[in-house]
Amino acid sequence: MRIETPEAMEALGRALGEAAPAGTVIALHGDLGAGKSVLARGIARGLGIGGRIPSPTFILVAEYTEGRLPLHHCDLYRLSDPDELVNLGLDEVLGGDGVVVVEWAERFPEILPADHLEVRIAIDGEARDVAIAGTGPVSQRLGSAVG
Ligand SMILES: Nc1ncnc2c1ncn2[C@@H]1O[C@H](COP(=O)(O)OP(=O)(O)OP(=O)(O)O)[C@@H](O)[C@H]1O
Ligand SMILES: [Mg+2]
Repeated sequence: MRIETPEAMEALGRALGEAAPAGTVIALHGDLGAGKSVLARGIARGLGIGGRIPSPTFILVAEYTEGRLPLHHCDLYRLSDPDELVNLGLDEVLGGDGVVVVEWAERFPEILPADHLEVRIAIDGEARDVAIAGTGPVSQRLGSAVG
């Protein structure tokens, strides 16, 4: 789908956050500045999480517990050693009942569960082309709910 503005990107995220069942894992793919963190902020809003949702570029994982489900927002861009994923507790939250949003998941694709939602964002000037695909029954249902 074509997303013309940051506001539309956030609205797409909100729809995902509203529809996401417990255990949802969403992998966000796209170049620097594509809008992954904007989409993640929308997902937080859809789960009922207010306040600032900063990019977790340096802390790698941010957790928000005030919404309908816990949200774990991860950015693996700066992660060099996959063993660190255990220290960050990411292996645990990936099998948990919250919603996990992973920016730069392509750096460590092996950590993703078999059933997860793939969101690919391509930059086209000010607009973004967004492709959403589920890799299993749960994520496919979520993808259909917003697409
Ligand atoms: N159509 C659009 N959709 C989303 N963001 C847009 C759009 N047009 C412009 N932008 C801008 O692009 C930037 C996207 O930044 P964002 O931090 O979300 O990117 P990112 O993919 O998370 O990058 P990084 O890989 O550095 O984490 C924002 O400043 C946003 O306002
Ligand atoms: Mg980001």
